[in-house]
Amino acid sequence: MISSAELKKRYLDFFQKRGHKIIPSASLIPENDPSVLFTTAGMHPLVPYLLGEPHPHGQRLCNVQRCIRTVDIDEVGDAWHLSFFEMLGNWSLGGYFKEEAIALSFEFLTKELKIPTERFSVTCFEGDRDAPRDEETARIWAELGVAKNRIHFLPKADNWWGPAGETGPCGPDTEMFYHVKDIQEKSTEEFLKLSSTGPFVEIWNDVMMQYNKTADGKFEELKQKNVDTGMGVERMVAVLNGADNAYACDTLAAILDRVISISAPATAKTNRNARIVTDHIRAAVMVLGENKGVVPSNVDQGYVLRRFIRRAIRHARIIGIRGEFCNELAKVVIDVMGDSYPELRKNRARIFEELEKEEEKFSVALENGTKLLERELQLLEGSHQKILSAKSAFDLFQSFGFPLEITAEMCKEKGFSVDKEGFDSLMKAHQDLSRKGAEQKFKGGLADHSEETTKLHTATHLLNEALRQVVDPSIHQMGSNITKERLRFDFNYDKKLTDDQIKRIEDWVNDAIKAEADVSFAMMSIEEAKKQGAQGVFEAKYEKVVKVYTVSKGDRVYSREVCGGPHVKNTRELHHFKITKQEAVAAGVRRIKAVVE
Ligand code: ALA
Repeated sequence: MISSAELKKRYLDFFQKRGHKIIPSASLIPENDPSVLFTTAGMHPLVPYLLGEPHPHGQRLCNVQRCIRTVDIDEVGDAWHLSFFEMLGNWSLGGYFKEEAIALSFEFLTKELKIPTERFSVTCFEGDRDAPRDEETARIWAELGVAKNRIHFLPKADNWWGPAGETGPCGPDTEMFYHVKDIQEKSTEEFLKLSSTGPFVEIWNDVMMQYNKTADGKFEELKQKNVDTGMGVERMVAVLNGADNAYACDTLAAILDRVISISAPATAKTNRNARIVTDHIRAAVMVLGENKGVVPSNVDQGYVLRRFIRRAIRHARIIGIRGEFCNELAKVVIDVMGDSYPELRKNRARIFEELEKEEEKFSVALENGTKLLERELQLLEGSHQKILSAKSAFDLFQSFGFPLEITAEMCKEKGFSVDKEGFDSLMKAHQDLSRKGAEQKFKGGLADHSEETTKLHTATHLLNEALRQVVDPSIHQMGSNITKERLRFDFNYDKKLTDDQIKRIEDWVNDAIKAEADVSFAMMSIEEAKKQGAQGVFEAKYEKVVKVYTVSKGDRVYSREVCGGPHVKNTRELHHFKITKQEAVAAGVRRIKAVVE
């Protein structure tokens, strides 16, 4: 049996031996990127470098990235879809391209993991008006020994990856499928037909990132040709162990076993509800365990977190799990994931506390809300209607905390549907009223190198330092999110800032702007960066060299911080800095919003 830890080690060793530098897993909560709620792939934190910024570790990188994807949430519970998963990835930033990328994948699969070539199929991009048919990739696979009937051309919907948000790097990809059952397809039609029934599972994706999708939907050639690959750890471990579902992977199996042992009567390992509970509790613990202090709420990441927990509770009840159970499962999650993600152990108390609070809040509401919904459905049935009104769904949300998908799921199980569009507009009206959630309307993200966001990046560095100078030297960044309109900065502090403090922070930043300080960067060793007093999280295990931005005028250093960029050249470009809002985000975490004008 191979474990996740062993697969991860073998992957990183393999690529390290072939000139790749190992970089750490970024947080699940993206830095400076308002266009997505979670890190969905290893390439996501690398967007600036895929667009051409030099990376401190050069052109060849690899890592294990923790990811959350909610687009497939309805499919969670089947054999292979997960909302949280670990992704192995290797990158070429303007270095090797198709030939070497595919050869490396092939070598790892067939030589290192010893998967026989007969056990996989590959797909390539068939071409459209944005990019040509990828004959080159097909030729490379054929030359490596993949049989012609195992190489399939598919359209953009299948063989194109990215961008991660609205805009940014993307390109045609080639996907590798493992044959869980030894079936030899004869044609692409047969491949597609079989794919939908489960004997093939996608194990690895090599993306040839050579385009940048612009805000108006065009695909421009990037300055450099990149390679971005992603392999799901859980899937790979499962298939290497001869299993036909991802829950056979050690980091899920232990949780599923516990779910089954507390279900009554004990369910089968293939039970969909048990799998959903397993997946969702793991995802919730991974989000709660982040150092960023995300807690269940009705907006942004907090809302997704809330949905994971509430949906887990509902599915747990279906398989007869009574009373409080989240923390019992959370302990197993921390045990199996804690070696790879030590913050889970550090934040253990908060994880338990938040799960308990949410469980308490929702357990009673779930029962009462379910009764109400069942009555409504009976009424609908009586009047021969099949659609639950948006208003009813919204009432369930407001009074009982039912996320829409729980209501929709319950309706579906009884043969009804919900007016989802109507619900969305009620929700939107509600959020506009409460002035929350507005941020989801902003576009941009890491691929946004616009003048506005670049200025705000630099302003963020100055604010970070100003807080230490004016308020408390132990303050550090806990999260940052930048749109074209404003910056948002989270930091560790437990009191409301006074008006005087706010004024002094603004003055400090505006002095740095008036001083017309220069902004420059240098690559340096971690030791050197620390010696120079640079701010940042140092992951000494992997990062030997870091990129450090300095804001200075003559001998006066205003700020020094580890960062990927981009930044303005001189602080005079910021004109004037103003704090627009301060609030509490979680216990001990405060948030400031600010603008430059
Ligand atoms: N970014 C690519 C993916 O997630 C590798 O599939």
